[in-house]
Amino acid sequence: MNQDSNKPSANDSAAPNAVAEEHAQLSAEIEHHNRLYYTQDAPTITDHEYDQMMQRLIELESQHPELQSASSPTQRVGAAPLDEFTQITHEQPMLSLSNGFNDQDIHDFDRRLRKEIDLDDERVLEYVAEPKLDGLAVSIFYENGQLKHAATRGDGKVGEDITHNVKTIRSVPLSLGEKAPQRLEVRGEIFMPHAGFAKLNEAQKAQDKKTFVNPRNAAAGSLRQLDSAVTATRPLEIFIYALGVNSDADFANTHAESLQKLAELGFPVCPLLRVVTGVQGCLQYFQDMSAQRSDLAYEIDGIVYKLNRLDWQKAAGFIAKAPRWALAHKFPAQEKSTLVRDIQVQVGRTGAITPVARLEPLFVGGVTVSNVTLHNKAEIERLGVRVGDTVVVRRAGDVIPQIVSVNLEKRPSNSLAYQFPSACPECGSQVVAEGEGIISRCTGGLICGAQVKQAITHFVSRKAMDIDGMGERIVDLLVAQGLIKSVADIYLLTAEQLLELEGFAQKSADNLIAAIQASKKTELPRLLFALGIPQVGETTAEQLAQTFGHIDALSAASKEEFERLPDIGPIVAENITVFFATESNRAVVRQLLENGVEYTPIDVSKHVDLASLPLAEKTIVLTGGLSSMSRSDAKKQLQSLGAKVTGSVSKKTSLVIVGTDAGSKAQKAEELGIETLDEEGLLALLKSL
Ligand code: IVH
Repeated sequence: MNQDSNKPSANDSAAPNAVAEEHAQLSAEIEHHNRLYYTQDAPTITDHEYDQMMQRLIELESQHPELQSASSPTQRVGAAPLDEFTQITHEQPMLSLSNGFNDQDIHDFDRRLRKEIDLDDERVLEYVAEPKLDGLAVSIFYENGQLKHAATRGDGKVGEDITHNVKTIRSVPLSLGEKAPQRLEVRGEIFMPHAGFAKLNEAQKAQDKKTFVNPRNAAAGSLRQLDSAVTATRPLEIFIYALGVNSDADFANTHAESLQKLAELGFPVCPLLRVVTGVQGCLQYFQDMSAQRSDLAYEIDGIVYKLNRLDWQKAAGFIAKAPRWALAHKFPAQEKSTLVRDIQVQVGRTGAITPVARLEPLFVGGVTVSNVTLHNKAEIERLGVRVGDTVVVRRAGDVIPQIVSVNLEKRPSNSLAYQFPSACPECGSQVVAEGEGIISRCTGGLICGAQVKQAITHFVSRKAMDIDGMGERIVDLLVAQGLIKSVADIYLLTAEQLLELEGFAQKSADNLIAAIQASKKTELPRLLFALGIPQVGETTAEQLAQTFGHIDALSAASKEEFERLPDIGPIVAENITVFFATESNRAVVRQLLENGVEYTPIDVSKHVDLASLPLAEKTIVLTGGLSSMSRSDAKKQLQSLGAKVTGSVSKKTSLVIVGTDAGSKAQKAEELGIETLDEEGLLALLKSL
């Protein structure tokens, strides 16, 4: 380091005039080249020359930090990382656009507008037609010609402060010069062109980092960086498409003119926009752009038509969240062909089996697709799709991609019809179909690897076996360590085993073992509910317990016997039958009892006919707090009188018991005109019966 005292040090208070002048000139020159390069695509110097100018500017600023204003070109390289985004309230809300999908929608839009602005039938409305860019909306605010802040759209009212990141986008002017209105807000779309997107993903892959599914997500991910040095390396661009706040009331008379003025101030404006007349002009532009779409350097997902005259925009006004004077005409869904490499099934946490087609990857509707869900067995049959088939994949907007058809002409001669698995790929248990192939489910609920964690978490939950202190994290740990493979193993756990796990001390281990021991003595309805038989909730478990009294009786019962119960339909009856017919489930139940779980059988011989009870056929909802008893006591008493007690209010509800601090359920009861009782009324009712 040169310590020569004649050289100004970084702490000197003011830069000599000559230095300040050099700084100002250099800044202006760099910004000029930024515009030529990024906005006009017409650079006049080499990258090397540009870098040298930038280096010199950085040097000047490091020697004279007071020269480094927030709008210096050096600020584009990225500021210090933030801890979090702060919020910015939009002075004018950032709206979205209404959508149109076909010619008729455009005719309707035009007709509505003509009516709104009272136009006689002779004249044709003038619109600005612009590509609908597929990126992220941004608001950028300037005061006295200097960029002050930039924000995301957020919820339309409040967005996130992304100033530090937006400044790294070289085509965004940091200062606007003399002609700019004193207060000016511009709005536009930040996006990532295809080429930059491909390069970014390659680089991500090379560094073993996550790749982005489409340019829009890549742009969003790049803008939501707390460290703007990262954003600075991302190939982001922007087109400004609207004015926000503007202190100059005479800025422009038409939308086209306002964009023209913004372009003159140095903002990038999409060069493809056109002023068109009437619906015919709009539709012609739509056709032209549809034809060009695949050749564009960036993704667009439709065309936006905006009424050109600003006074008429004002007259037309807004509906809820969008202006009446603009419409987004969306491109139809994109469809492309590809090959089905394989069809595999996935087992969900509830045992539901979902077939998935593995595809030769293809780029459609703005994303790379390599897997599409085939939903269920019935869908595979409807499509007739096989491994090796060439299929048409469609993706529209944000809708998940799907296979729409199979090209039979391209089917290989040796292809075979797809056989939906009859055994679970995870555990080998039988797969059963529910509702004509709409759902296929693995029956190995208690032993299936894909389901076991979920099964255990449910088993220990409060309304099931109520084992306090056995949260999801601990279940994960126990399963991962191989200490429990099924719910029956819970009762074999020892404090010594727990002590070896991360996060356990003597006291917590003892507490958990005590909770496990305490849960052994239980009631039949709880145990049945805890088993997690598909679609058997608390109410059904209660009914099964009251009707059959004992697990042996249940597992010996037939599907028809279950179906005879008031609230059990054919699907639930089938689920119960299959559950108890599956040997692995029977084994787990046996082990539970061997490991010490016990319940008091219910003497069903003494049973009264449920239908003869005073509250039979009544569906009751309890809401709010009770002071004379707990809600679950109240529930039990009502159930013992034959009532069905449910959790949500619907048209089928007969009575709502409203305790203290009741919320939306009480309100809903009132809306639906359902009878309600307060605690006093409930006590009187129980007493009278
Ligand atoms: S004008 C008040 N013009 O589309 C109207 N929006 O669904 C404000 N978009 O959030 C929007 N290209 O991010 C407008 N040429 C364009 C656009 C455009 C893309 C986005 C914008 C907005 C969304 C509306």
